[in-house]
Amino acid sequence: MTFAIPADAIDTLEDEVTRALRTTDDRAITILGYGEVTLVLLLETDSGAFACKRLPVFPSRERLDRHSALVDDYITRLDKGGVEVAETRMWHRPLPGGRSVAYCVQEALPADRLCSRLLRTAGDAWCEGFFERFLDRVEAAVTPRLGLDGQASNWIDVDGELVYLDVTTPLMRDGHERELLDVPLFFTSLPWLVRDVVRMAMTKSIFDKFYSPRGVVLDFLGNLHKERLDHLIPRFVEQAGARLDQPLGTEEIAAYYRDDARMWELIQRLRRADRFVHNKVLRRPYPFLLPHRVAR
Ligand SMILES: Nc1ncnc2c1ncn2[C@@H]1O[C@H](COP(=O)(O)OP(=O)(O)O)[C@@H](O)[C@H]1O
Ligand SMILES: [Mg+2]
Repeated sequence: MTFAIPADAIDTLEDEVTRALRTTDDRAITILGYGEVTLVLLLETDSGAFACKRLPVFPSRERLDRHSALVDDYITRLDKGGVEVAETRMWHRPLPGGRSVAYCVQEALPADRLCSRLLRTAGDAWCEGFFERFLDRVEAAVTPRLGLDGQASNWIDVDGELVYLDVTTPLMRDGHERELLDVPLFFTSLPWLVRDVVRMAMTKSIFDKFYSPRGVVLDFLGNLHKERLDHLIPRFVEQAGARLDQPLGTEEIAAYYRDDARMWELIQRLRRADRFVHNKVLRRPYPFLLPHRVAR
């Protein structure tokens, strides 16, 4: 299955996003999903519906090209590791001063097949089967150099096949545990004041969990608290316990989630404060669309 990128329609979408940033009024755009980092916009066209993931503005063509290559590489390596990834294309537009704006574009897959949704709607047998398939993928793919953000909202079940969606921030490391991702670029959405502190102290701990199967499973299970799916945790803990070297406990998961939620809560609060300063004090557009409040 392959699709042509709806270039003109994305052009128009980007104009609308620019307007939304200027006015902080995002009612003209349809938001498909709120991640922690990107906003995913729905684009309906005559040739189908697309999920468009807007990346931070790239300061140079070189950094855009580097990121595009990283996304391609990430998809190839996941594929080789047995994780099927939704077909993803990049779209970009040059901006003044050598900058570029870019989107990762995928076909909009059926929202009712999103695994975070199915865990709620599909019944025990599906949940158990899903978690088994999930563990298979995680164990096969994840290494100290190839990471995965395994949370349930990153997977969609299409015709019985688990498809991974979240490739805008490729999780790959070099031999010295350094992210290949342009981390400073993706963290420019944090206020300038804390950016460097945050960058240094938090980056490694934010990313570490993605590079071990146990970390990925812990993060997945912790996230079930946020998804209000806590009731599934004991069953999944038991199911995972048989497969992990060092089993997970429900207390560990709850504690992990409390820390994680606190960290993201703080980050989002700082971003909102920064947006306020941009818009009201500096009187210039804040260059990101922020999620509305997330219930935790
Ligand atoms: N191809 C797609 N089809 C339908 N919905 C999608 C698609 N890609 C993403 N979404 C929705 O947007 C949400 C966030 O997308 P994701 O790629 O995980 O970005 P983030 O890095 O922000 O988490 C997903 O959880 C899902 O609800
Ligand atoms: Mg995601």
